Amino acid sequence: MSELQRAVDLLRAGELVAFPTETVYGLGADARNADAVGKIFAAKGRPADHPLIVHIPDATQLSQWAIDIPAVAHSLAAAFWPGPLTLILKRAADVPDLVTGGQDTIGLRVPNHPIALELLRHFNGGLAAPSANRFGHISPTTAAHVAEELSDRVALILDGGPCTVGIESTILDLSRGPPEILRPGAIGVEAIARVIGSAPRVLSGAAAPRVSGSLEAHYAPRTPLKLLAGDALPFAVRHAMVANERVAILACMPPAITDERIVWRIAPTDAVGFARELYAHLRDLDAAGCAHIVVQRPPGTELWRAVNDRLRRAAAGSGQT
Ligand code: TXA
Ligand code: MG
Repeated sequence: MSELQRAVDLLRAGELVAFPTETVYGLGADARNADAVGKIFAAKGRPADHPLIVHIPDATQLSQWAIDIPAVAHSLAAAFWPGPLTLILKRAADVPDLVTGGQDTIGLRVPNHPIALELLRHFNGGLAAPSANRFGHISPTTAAHVAEELSDRVALILDGGPCTVGIESTILDLSRGPPEILRPGAIGVEAIARVIGSAPRVLSGAAAPRVSGSLEAHYAPRTPLKLLAGDALPFAVRHAMVANERVAILACMPPAITDERIVWRIAPTDAVGFARELYAHLRDLDAAGCAHIVVQRPPGTELWRAVNDRLRRAAAGSGQT
């Protein structure tokens, strides 16, 4: 039996299957099966009132999950699906409450990854899938990351290689009037504005309480993380030397000095490349046994919005166990 058929059989039997998407790996369950969805919350340690995104094979299945679908939803789906955009719409009445966290809305997206699409087409339904990490921790961008945290809690992990986008989808709320971005991602304000004719508002984390990814302490390594301007990195290094501590540094440039106490990773200088590698770097640096992780603060421009959002939350939530 092919691995894909095994995955479909397990999902139909109410088991959890982790699968790759272009953004991060998802922890999937049959979204119509409340018992199966319940296993996601147990495996992640996620509070039950945090809603899940339902992944569908194509936009024609939108109407099986949502009602009162505005015309812009169809335009956005045509422009960006399959792709890293989640649309929040009014939910259909028969969606299990656990999927929506008891809210009257539902998050839907068509992921752009050949394995995810093949799985969804064979399953021919909706898969509820949060990022396949323990609650509050860093999202996984490889199958090995999923196995590190969830191997004993998931029936099967499909390996689709490293994720190409690397950070979670943009979440756009279309359920209550003018479109609002609840979570920034690879599809930015300008790309959305080109399709809907005006720039969507971007809600700050505090204003978007129903998005668990918007909690201040999220996407966080266990090692305390701080952001520093590039020209302040030598001070962080000197401080670590004086304190005789190990320090982990993620920067877009090579180190000025090398020392066994410095774990230095070079990140891409472009926002797309930086996002793709970010979570793998944070995991590695978190495992390096350092007193601190220092990340060179990226530019504050629109292109870097989603990366800066994740880094800010990682800094806010880091060091918590
Ligand atoms: O890229 C992604 O979106 C990945 C991949 C696997 O698709 N999934 C992901 O899921 O990041 P998760 O559960 O880690 O984050 C989904 C976010 C949560 O913050 C949740 O609160 C929000 O989507 N969300 C889901 N349904 C919602 C709704 N009806 N209203 C507001 N926020 C919602
Ligand atoms: Mg998540």
